[in-house]
Amino acid sequence: MDARDLGRSVKWVTSFRMVGAARVLRSVRSAWRNRRLDAAGLPRPGAERARVPGAAVEARPLPGGGVIRFARSSLLVRVAAGGAVFCGWDGAGPQPSYALAGAVPEVDDRVVLEPDTDGGWRVVSERLLVVVSRHGAVEVRTPGGVVLRRDQPPRWWEPVEVAAGEGGPRWMQRAEVPPDARHFGLGGRSAGPRLRDGVYRLWNTDPGGSFQPGDDPLYLTMPVQLVVADAGTHLVFHDNSFDGRVSLWEGEEGAGSGHDRPGRSEIRMEGGPLRYWVLVGTPARVLRNWAVLTGGAALPPAWALGHHHSRWGFGGAEEVRRVVAGYRERGLPLSAVHLDIDHYRGHRVFTVDREHFPDLPGLARELGESGVRLVSIVDPGIKAEPGLAVYDGGLAVDAFVRDPRGEPVRGEVWSGESVYPDFTDPLVREWWGGLYAERLAEGFSGFWHDMNEPVSFSAFGDQSLPRSARHVLEGRGGDHREAHNVYGLLMTRAAYEGLRVLRPAERPFLFSRSGWAGMQRYGGTWSGDVATGWPGLRASLALVLGLGLCGVPYSGPDIGGFTGSPSPELYLRWFQLGSFLPLFRTHSAISTGRREPWEFGPEVLEHAGTALRERQRLLPYWMTLAQLARRTGAPYVRPLWWRAPEDRALRDCEDAFLLGDSLLVAPVLEQGTDRRAVRLPRGCWYDTATGRLHEGPGQVLLDAPLSRIPVLARAGAVLPVAAPDGSVELEVWTPAPGRTGGGVLIGEDGVVTRFTSRRRDQTVRVEQEGAAEVAYPVRVRG
Ligand code: GLC
Repeated sequence: MDARDLGRSVKWVTSFRMVGAARVLRSVRSAWRNRRLDAAGLPRPGAERARVPGAAVEARPLPGGGVIRFARSSLLVRVAAGGAVFCGWDGAGPQPSYALAGAVPEVDDRVVLEPDTDGGWRVVSERLLVVVSRHGAVEVRTPGGVVLRRDQPPRWWEPVEVAAGEGGPRWMQRAEVPPDARHFGLGGRSAGPRLRDGVYRLWNTDPGGSFQPGDDPLYLTMPVQLVVADAGTHLVFHDNSFDGRVSLWEGEEGAGSGHDRPGRSEIRMEGGPLRYWVLVGTPARVLRNWAVLTGGAALPPAWALGHHHSRWGFGGAEEVRRVVAGYRERGLPLSAVHLDIDHYRGHRVFTVDREHFPDLPGLARELGESGVRLVSIVDPGIKAEPGLAVYDGGLAVDAFVRDPRGEPVRGEVWSGESVYPDFTDPLVREWWGGLYAERLAEGFSGFWHDMNEPVSFSAFGDQSLPRSARHVLEGRGGDHREAHNVYGLLMTRAAYEGLRVLRPAERPFLFSRSGWAGMQRYGGTWSGDVATGWPGLRASLALVLGLGLCGVPYSGPDIGGFTGSPSPELYLRWFQLGSFLPLFRTHSAISTGRREPWEFGPEVLEHAGTALRERQRLLPYWMTLAQLARRTGAPYVRPLWWRAPEDRALRDCEDAFLLGDSLLVAPVLEQGTDRRAVRLPRGCWYDTATGRLHEGPGQVLLDAPLSRIPVLARAGAVLPVAAPDGSVELEVWTPAPGRTGGGVLIGEDGVVTRFTSRRRDQTVRVEQEGAAEVAYPVRVRG
């Protein structure tokens, strides 16, 4: 057990208030069991031999690039038609991959492979140049020759005695980026969105209890880095699901004696292929290509863009009714109520506690009449209990992950000793997808996947399955070292595909705590158990921004924090921020204080009501953003540098964000604040509360009384909003003199309507593309 492990175990054991003492003992047993299984079932570490590619020997052109053979390895370089570069060492190709959406993108057949001066090779395409040195360093350059990224020759470590175990050798590769570059991404990182110098682990992990900013890793990691520099933006994706670590060091211009020190990164993986994709361009273009490669984001149903109320421990149907009535009586919009594990019978997934929820379908119908949906938590662990339908059914189809001896692996979760479906098996995915019929029959409209890192409570070591556990991996076979990080992704895929069959006319609503690259195809995610406190509020924004830059646009925090009781002020500030994030949900642990907006006094109630109504008013804009995220890969919530990555001050600004193209939101993240500095990208911006115009780039000081957080609208923006009767109207922010502006409306039906705004003298004109008249009422502001 290393120090980190010990820290985590202590933290986890102290959170037993939530899990109970008997489980402490069972979790000790579970940890020993894992340890024993791994000792017997994993290759023993022994002496290793290091290998580097050696000198280039020859190159063979292929459509889109070629294969360069080195003394002790080979490198495939392939440029896709959209400009995405693929590099695969040691024979690795782009498939099989859990991240890619489908077929590997077509190659660009205009690309040529030609010898370089020093014995290396160049792959020349219209958009970029890939230069491979004689010893296997790979540079990606702009057509003008500016280096965006230089990957050094990799290094592998192979066992000397036995043939390389499953998964292949460990490997490491270092890279250099321009000195001014900033790193983002790597999945959900509480310390982000800008990733500073440090080591970031690639192993989906339940931190236990709750997490604070800086706790790393968390539930959803992925080897996706977005690098933003003056020379250009690029995304690098190492398509490898094994355990690994990324270390980052920012560079410095004019470091020391006036020389630049490049930014550096290093990736070390415990196995799996050394292959990666590099996508280059503006941030919008990079994210668009990423969506082409890994799939467009699932479009949430319209109701999922409203407000959700959740808690662990509602206690029963009566309390759910009371909470919903509380919203209704106060005129507060509410879209969904989430039921946590306490609505199950003894925490068993796919069951109902009939004593406290005697008629769930009836409750669902009743709530449905006031427009409120029910969302169900779904955990992957199934209580190992003969007679339990899901357990018996799973055994019958051989659904569970097995240990190296062939026995189903047992772990410890809320319901007690449990087994785990192997979602890497297509037949198991199909079986699991069918189980949602029970949930639909109980009246649920959406699903919240939890504990799918996957978690097994263990007093020490990983809170997960033994690494030696066997997985089908689509028939290839392998162990948990390879399957762990894609477990949540594939659970959500199983549910998504099942729901598409069960309810073909509806868009599934799914969000999942764990996941991996490509998960956006099936649903969104949420912060997980963020600790209540001002630092947790800040981490909430970091997670949403960072995930959006990895292609997962729909997420949000537990408003108020998962643990403890927030002060009224903290709750309100969290609520105000949450109302501008895609998943707008209050949630908390079983032993915590209430989270209903009326529990924090009349002032908070009034201001939370304002935030709720503003969310409701902006719903047509939210649907447009959801459609754009699906079609273009642009997240709803974007960093301020989205359209101006060359603005270095914006790259370092982490306390505000763009909501689509039109709005800039500056949440209050500090206690006792009623004014805050807001950094503006170039252009003219209206403070939506005062109507005052501010010009960027620069910084302004804006009022942020308890009643609101600063929200600015881009001059010229045409925003689709809901009129009081629910119909769509256009809110137009006066363009700057002599300038034009515009906006877009995409409804649920997918129909795109574009608008332009123009200012002539003192009048503002709005036009609708392809129409003589604007089909919506227009309200000019600013
Ligand atoms: C996990 C989830 C949390 C949930 C709890 C009980 O901690 O992250 O949201 O309330 O489990 O199911």
